[in-house]
Order: sequence, then C-alpha cells, then structure tokens
Amino acid sequence: MDEEKKRPGVARRALSLRFAIFAGFILLAVVLLAILNTYPISLMRSQLIRAREAEMRSNFGALSSALESSSVLDYETSAAAVSILDVGRDCRVLITDTSGKVLYDNLKSSDMIGKTVLFSEVIEALYGNDVFRCVYDSEAFRYRVACSVQRDGLTVGTVYAYQYDTENAELLEKTKGDIAKLSFAVTGVAALFIFVFTTSLRRRFDRVLEGVSQISRGNYDYRINMNGSDELGTIAREFDQMSAQLTKNEEIRRQFVSDASHELKTPLASIKLLCDSILQAKDIKTEEVREFLGDISDEIERLTRITEGLLYLSRMENGESVGGICDLTHTVVKSSEMLRGSAGEYEVRFMLDMPESLYVSGNPDLIYQVVFNLMENAVKYNRRGGDVRVSSGHSDGGKVLLYVADTGIGIKEEELERIFDRFYRVDKMRSRQTGGTGLGLSIVGRCMEAIGGHIEVSSTYGEGSCFTVYFEAAPESVQEGEEQS
Ligand SMILES: Nc1ncnc2c1ncn2[C@@H]1O[C@H](COP(=O)(O)OP(=O)(O)O)[C@@H](O)[C@H]1O
Ligand SMILES: [Mg+2]
Repeated sequence: MDEEKKRPGVARRALSLRFAIFAGFILLAVVLLAILNTYPISLMRSQLIRAREAEMRSNFGALSSALESSSVLDYETSAAAVSILDVGRDCRVLITDTSGKVLYDNLKSSDMIGKTVLFSEVIEALYGNDVFRCVYDSEAFRYRVACSVQRDGLTVGTVYAYQYDTENAELLEKTKGDIAKLSFAVTGVAALFIFVFTTSLRRRFDRVLEGVSQISRGNYDYRINMNGSDELGTIAREFDQMSAQLTKNEEIRRQFVSDASHELKTPLASIKLLCDSILQAKDIKTEEVREFLGDISDEIERLTRITEGLLYLSRMENGESVGGICDLTHTVVKSSEMLRGSAGEYEVRFMLDMPESLYVSGNPDLIYQVVFNLMENAVKYNRRGGDVRVSSGHSDGGKVLLYVADTGIGIKEEELERIFDRFYRVDKMRSRQTGGTGLGLSIVGRCMEAIGGHIEVSSTYGEGSCFTVYFEAAPESVQEGEEQS
C-alpha cells in the first residue's frame, strides 16, 4: 500500500490494466450468459411445440377425415371415431356442428354438450381453416387445435382439441435452471482464474515498472531479474541488457572525465610550477626567463593539442561530416609533406608505393585524420634511420586497403588492443617527448567507425608495426569521372 502511495502513476497504470481486463471479461460474461440462457431454451421450446403441432394436426386431421366419411355427425359417431383413432387420451376433445354447438365432449363429467362454444379457433375452423395455437407460461404449454369437418365442400362441423402439458413445461424449466446454475458456476471459476492471472500480471508489471523508474532516477545498477518466456519476460530481459549497457557507458564516461581532467591537470601543474619559479627567483637572468617561458609555451601547446583532440572526438560523437569521396594517394602525399619536418628530425624515410590516384568512399577530412595520425605514429615510434612504408591493395571482398608499416619499436601483443583507447600510451615518457596526447588512435578508430570501415594492426615488438585500414571503394562512376577530368 505504501509503495503504491509513493508511486501513484505506477499503481494507477497497473490498476487500470487490471480494470480493463476485468471489464472486458464481465462484458463477455454478460453477453455469453445472455446467449447461453436464452437461445438453447427458446430452441428447445419451439422444438417441443413443433413436434406437438405435427402430432396434433395429424391426429385431429385424421379425426375430422373420419367424421367427414360418416353420414351423420352426432355424439355416437364422434365417440366411435375418437375411440377408434385413440386421440382423446391426454386431450380434451370437443366436436361441434356448424353453429358451434357442442355435439361431443370426451370429458365424462362434461356439461358442455348442447352449449355453443365460440372459441376463436372454432370460429376459424368454421370458416374452413385448420388452426393450431400454443400458449406457454412457465407452468404449462397450452395447445389448441381446431379442424373443420367438411362434406361436399361445405363445413358441417369442427373438431376442437385442447391439451394442457405441464410435464414438458417442467422439463424446460428444469433445463433452464440447470443451464443458469452451470453458467454461473463457470463464470465464477473463470472470474477466479482471471483474478489470479491479473494479480500475477500486475505483480510482473510492477517489477518492470519499478525497473524503469529506478533507471530513470539514475540507478543504472538496478536489474529486474525476471524470468518467463512471455512478452513481459522478454521486455524484462531486454531491459536488463539495456541497463547493463548503461552501466558500462556510465563507467566509460566517468573514466573519461577522470582521464581528461588528469591529462589537463599535468600541463597546468607544470605551467604553474614554471611561473612560480620565475616569480620566486630573486636575481633571475633574462635568458633563464626566456627558457622558462619556452617551456611554458610547450605546455600550452600540449594543452591546445589535448583540447583540440577532445573537441574533434566530441564533434565525431555528434556524427558530423560523414559522406564524400576521397583520393587516398593525394591524402598520403599531403600527410607525408606535413610530416617532412619531423621525419627529417628522426631521420626517417618515407617510401610511398601508391597508384596515381585511388578513390575511396568517406569524408576527406576524416580520412586525412586517419592517414595523418597513422603516418605520424610511424615516424614518432620509429628508430633513427628507419623507414615508413605506405602502400595500397585490394581485399577479396572488394575493399581498398591502405598499409602503413614502420621499422620502429613495435607494440607488445598485450598492448595491442589498448592502443585505441583514449589517452592510452604504451610509453608515457616517449609519447610525451614527441608531443603525444594518447588521443590520435582513438580519433582514428572513431573516424573509421564513422565512415564504415575498420582497422587492423599487427606488430612485432622491437621490429616494427603495420596498420591495415579497410576502406569502401568509391563508386566506379566517380573514379572514371575523376580520371577523365
Ligand atoms: N607505429 C607505432 N609503433 C609503436 N607504437 C605505436 C605506434 N602507433 C601507436 N603506438 C602506441 O600507441 C599509443 C597510442 O597512440 P596515439 O593514440 O596515436 O597516441 P600518441 O599521442 O601517444 O601518439 C602510442 O603512445 C604508442 O605507445
Ligand atoms: Mg599519435
């Protein structure tokens, strides 16, 4: 109860579902009960009446035929015909003349003989029509039949019979009662079943809703842990998977914020230290000040590189600049020119083995980031006098491959899968000396994800590494067009 108070929305939703199921059931039950309690009974009743109608019409039709064939119509001939045909056993039988005067009555103690009866059935029979009527109340069936007796085309009298049947009426009433009892019992059992079912459904719903509300409050560790092969069970499992993913994302986000702050803190601390040294030194020479300022400038440059890298990554998360066509050869040549300075510094030679032009699908800016970062790493993590070989190829699946291989320090097997993580550097000192931020390869990874390619790396520690990048080839029409122009 308390829980329901705390989460009125949840309680109301679960209740209304239950209410809807109940209301639907009650509506269905009412309709079914109404049909079940009327249709079979009315069918049975009309069946009984029809059977009796056929029987009475045939019996009393035969009696009227018998009377038609006798020469006179009086008490004796009527009594003889009734007893021969044996039709008066459970009926009251009256035979009248053309004026409706009773000639015969099979009731022994009758005082009707000689009296005129003007029942509507008798009157209709006098007009030459055979009539059957039945009136039913819950006590009895009252059947009336009247047939005209005709001779030479003229009505000479009528046969009127009346039957009061309580036996079948009782049977009908009993059946009615039995059906009512049975249908109420079945409804009761079904209601109980629905109550149990909706109670369990509601509990399961509440668990799922509790999970949703926990996650919406930021409690990503919450798990519903609900079994079942129905839709709710599936929802709960999917939901738990989603919360697990959220937990993971949240962990990555926290780690990133902490790493980024740490990375930004280090150069800031150096700058602070360098400034303090200048301020605290009493007789400091201009040259020394310049040296310190140079160091400060280096740290600021480093801060700039880190923030630029982070900004680039965050722009990538927003999914900017995806489509396009790029000439890979041109990008490689441009990157090698940009890196000429540092290559000279490390005495590293570029060996480019590329076709004249090589078109791939993807945004040129993103592809430049990939190629430049890989070639920069190949220079920075090389040995003095080493080589950087950049070449291209085609895979069986029709992809364009770019190889960036170096003869440098290599990467240990266990480090390989971590080098694409943000801020991850195998040798922090070396990376720092070469101005690295640990963001280059994560930018490469994200760019490749964005353009729908992928990257592989193989390396022998101490001998060198080779990065293989898989690009989608540009559509043929584009390549032909570019070649012509
Ligand atoms: N060609 C390579 N040879 C050896 N190690 C490499 C190479 N490329 C990357 N690495 C390792 O992977 C780390 C991550 O690379 P990167 O993300 O580009 O960061 P950095 O800014 O340090 O270059 C580097 O610090 C280096 O340890
Ligand atoms: Mg790098």
